[in-house]
Amino acid sequence: MLEVDRISKSFATPSGPLSVLDDVSFVLAAGGRLAIMGPSGSGKSTLLSILGTLEEPTSGTVRLGGLDPFAALPAGRAAFRNRQIGFVFQEHQLLGSLTALDNVVVPAIASGRVTPGIETRARELLDRVGLGSRLGHLPAELSGGERQRVAVARALLLEPRLVLADEPTGQLDARTAATVTDLLVELASESGRMLVVVTHADAVARRIGAVRHLSDGRLLP
Ligand SMILES: Nc1ncnc2c1ncn2[C@@H]1O[C@H](COP(=O)(O)OP(=O)(O)O)[C@@H](O)[C@H]1O
Ligand SMILES: [Mg+2]
Repeated sequence: MLEVDRISKSFATPSGPLSVLDDVSFVLAAGGRLAIMGPSGSGKSTLLSILGTLEEPTSGTVRLGGLDPFAALPAGRAAFRNRQIGFVFQEHQLLGSLTALDNVVVPAIASGRVTPGIETRARELLDRVGLGSRLGHLPAELSGGERQRVAVARALLLEPRLVLADEPTGQLDARTAATVTDLLVELASESGRMLVVVTHADAVARRIGAVRHLSDGRLLP
């Protein structure tokens, strides 16, 4: 379960504090999915960064599986993030010099959790996103949709409790966006995993299921 309780966030700017999120609360049950929509600048990426423990809220609490990641020291928080959260970004953020397979394995290497089975899991995930025949391709040798499917596989490698995606289909045509969204939903729907997707596309939000709208840092009812 993901519990977001009265999160606010402001940034210090030369002209004083800038309020970006204002009293945002919601709960996502285990296995739940949520799309977040809202105009540019409404605070969507900031909210996702806080859910992903990359950014600390100014006030309010986040609990994932009953644990408050911000109560931990930064090193503990990084370990928590690595273990519990998978990210998919708008730009795939694959490493250009690594093959699809090696890109999917990166989170395990980054956390020193390379187990004997990890490459098998990476192969299986790439197979499930339809890239079983592209394991040795470099990102430049893949289409935009294929790169995002690699990014989806990478996000799932360490079996996170929560998958966060910030406009994961923002660079894709509608048809490819639907495929990538369906794969994200399918893979994130196992083991009680939760999924939060920021999107501008109604069609993507419909595929996720539940939708909440952010407006000027406030989550609309
Ligand atoms: N590190 C930061 N410092 C100052 N302002 C920021 C920072 N990050 C985001 N903002 C501001 O917060 C607002 C919301 O940004 P963001 O969460 O990226 O919106 P969205 O993803 O909905 O487009 C914007 O006005 C942006 O300029
Ligand atoms: Mg954004």
